[in-house]
Amino acid sequence: MSAPVSSFADWSAEAYLTDYYSRIEPEELCTLRFLVEQFRKLPRNCLALEFGIGPTLHHVLPLSPYASEIHVADLLPSNLEAVRKWQERECGAHDWAEFTRRVLIYEGNLLPTESDVHAREELTRSRAVFARPPFLVMAGLVPAIPIGQARPIRSGSPGRARR
Ligand SMILES: C[S@@+](CC[C@H](N)C(=O)[O-])C[C@H]1O[C@@H](n2cnc3c(N)ncnc32)[C@H](O)[C@@H]1O
Repeated sequence: MSAPVSSFADWSAEAYLTDYYSRIEPEELCTLRFLVEQFRKLPRNCLALEFGIGPTLHHVLPLSPYASEIHVADLLPSNLEAVRKWQERECGAHDWAEFTRRVLIYEGNLLPTESDVHAREELTRSRAVFARPPFLVMAGLVPAIPIGQARPIRSGSPGRARR
């Protein structure tokens, strides 16, 4: 008997953001510091893909100085909608300023001003390019099911990337 699979019909990007991203959790401080260190090694103006971005921006904020385009993808349209709302500065979009400030501190700007935070967020907004889920599924780049579900991968199955 196979395990039940959620359709994510009840998924709330807003509830996820409120639960996990109203403050910076200690493990996220480590992740942000790590990303700042690793992204320094990237060539300037590279192309980047954040696959499974969820409704979040915190891992894109330290990437934007290095990437000329950041393609963001997620299975759930409501997650991408939350990202789009932030990118377009819509009312009700999540506030990532605390995360942005922390990224700037890890980059060496120990007293980031509001203007510094604003500048980084504007840079990030200008870099993000959306990859809608149907595009990725139709291109055979991702299976139309969430990552993590147990499934056999066979040669020629619809979920495999085409060459
Ligand atoms: C663990 S969450 C991470 C979300 C976010 N990056 C964060 O740090 O909070 C994994 C994300 O991958 C997305 N995802 C799962 N399977 C996917 C697939 N096949 N194609 C695209 N996105 C997928 C989910 O919708 C979810 O938002």
